[in-house]
Amino acid sequence: MAASETRSKRVVLGVTAGISAYKAIEVCRRLVDAGVHVAPVLTPDALRFVGVATFSALASEPAQSTLFDASQAIPHTSLGQSADLVVVAPATADFLARYAAGMANDLLSATLLATRAPVLVCPAMHTEMWEHPSVQETLATLVRRGVAVVPPEEGALAAGDRGIGRLADPASIVAVVLGMLGSNGDLAGRRVAVSAGGTREPLDPVRHLSNRSSGKQGHALAAVALRRGAEVALVTTVGTPVPAHPRLSVVRVDTAAEMEAAMAIESEKADVIVMAAAVADFRPVHVAGRKLTKDDGIPEIVLEQTPDILRGLVAHRRPGQVIVGFAAETDEPVARARRKRESKGVDLMVVNDVGAPGVGFDHDTNAVTIIKESAEREVPLTSKEAVAEAVLDEVVELLDRNDGADRARGEDS
Ligand code: PMT
Repeated sequence: MAASETRSKRVVLGVTAGISAYKAIEVCRRLVDAGVHVAPVLTPDALRFVGVATFSALASEPAQSTLFDASQAIPHTSLGQSADLVVVAPATADFLARYAAGMANDLLSATLLATRAPVLVCPAMHTEMWEHPSVQETLATLVRRGVAVVPPEEGALAAGDRGIGRLADPASIVAVVLGMLGSNGDLAGRRVAVSAGGTREPLDPVRHLSNRSSGKQGHALAAVALRRGAEVALVTTVGTPVPAHPRLSVVRVDTAAEMEAAMAIESEKADVIVMAAAVADFRPVHVAGRKLTKDDGIPEIVLEQTPDILRGLVAHRRPGQVIVGFAAETDEPVARARRKRESKGVDLMVVNDVGAPGVGFDHDTNAVTIIKESAEREVPLTSKEAVAEAVLDEVVELLDRNDGADRARGEDS
C-alpha cells in the first residue's frame, strides 16, 4: 500500500492501563509509517505504564490524556468527530466495561461516545479476567453494537504467568486497522450495493405481508465489503442501527417497490450488486386506507406479483458489473439454484437450504453453495461473515477477470 493512500485517514489510538501499553508505542509507530494520521489518547492510569512524551514524539499530533486541557474546550468531540477509526490497544477489562456502559469519565471513553467512526478494541488482561463471564458478556455487547475486536493471544503474561490474554502482536493489530481503513483491501476503489432483509407489503395501515429475513446475511456482506475497502450502499428493510462507517451509506426501505427504486439508483454507480434481500414475490393489490376490523368480515386479499428487482438490475447491467443473487430453497436447492442463475442471468447464485438446521433466515450462521458459470463452491455451516467473505472472494475474482478482459480489448483496438 502506498503511504499516500492513507495520508488523510485519522486514527484515534486509545491506550488504557495495561502492562502491554508499551506495545501500543509500536502500533503507533507502524501506523504513522503507513501514512496514517495518529492522535494518541491515554487514560490517566495508562500514564502509570507509558508516557505522553513517547507518543507525542512518534504520533502525528501531541498525545492527550485529559478532558480538561486548558488549550481545548472540548477535546473529545473534535477527536471523535474527526476520526476515521478509533482503536483501543490495549483495552483493559475495566475500560471495556466502562465503554459498554456508556460512561464518559475520561477523555478516551468520552471520545468513544462522541464518535460515529468504527471502533476496534484489542483486549489484554490476565487469563482469569479474560475468561470471566462479565468480560465475555461485555465484549458480546460491544460486538453486537458493531465494535470490531482483535482478540488477545496466548503467551507470557505479567508476573511470570502464561495463558490467553496477551495483547495481539502490533503487526497484526496494524494489519486489521489498515484493513478497516480500507486502504489495502481487495475491494478498495470498488462500489458495492447490497440489499438486505425481508420486504414488507402493506395490507392496511397496521398489517403487512413479510418473511423471516433478519437482514443478518446482507448486513454481514456490507460489513465485510467495507472491511475489504469497498464503498458500500446498503439498501435494507432492517431498522436496527448499522454501525456507521465513512464509506457506508444506508437506505432504509420497506416494500419491494421501494427496494427496486433504491437499488436502481445504487446500481448506476455500483461495480458489484448483491441481492441478499428476501423480496416478497406477491403483494396485496389493494391496500386498505384504514385498519381492517372483524366488523368488516373476513377480508379477501387479492395478490399481485412484485417487480423482479434482480431481473431488472441484470437488464440494465453496466459493463463489467458483477451481479450476485441469493436463493432461499428447501427442495433440491442446488439444482433449482442452477436454473435460477441461468434464468435470472446473474454471475453468481448463492443458494442456502433454508430447511437445514442453522441455515438461512434469522440464524447467525449459514451454509451455502455458490453457483458459478462453470463450477460450484460449497461453504459448510459457518458464520454469516465467513459466508460473506467467500462470496466476496468469488466477486473479486470476477472483477479481476472483467478488468483483464477490458485491458485485452484496449490492447487489441
Ligand atoms: O436475512 P437473514 O435472516 O440473514 O437470511 C438470509 C437469507 C436467507 C434471506 C438470504 O441468505 C437469502 O437467501 N436471500 C434471498 C432470499 C430470496 O428471496 O430468495 P429467492 O429465491 O426468492 O430469490 C432469488 C433472488 O431474486 C434473490 O437474490 C432475491 O433478492 C431476488 N428477488 C426475488 C424476488 C423479487 N421480486 N425480486 C428479486 O430481486
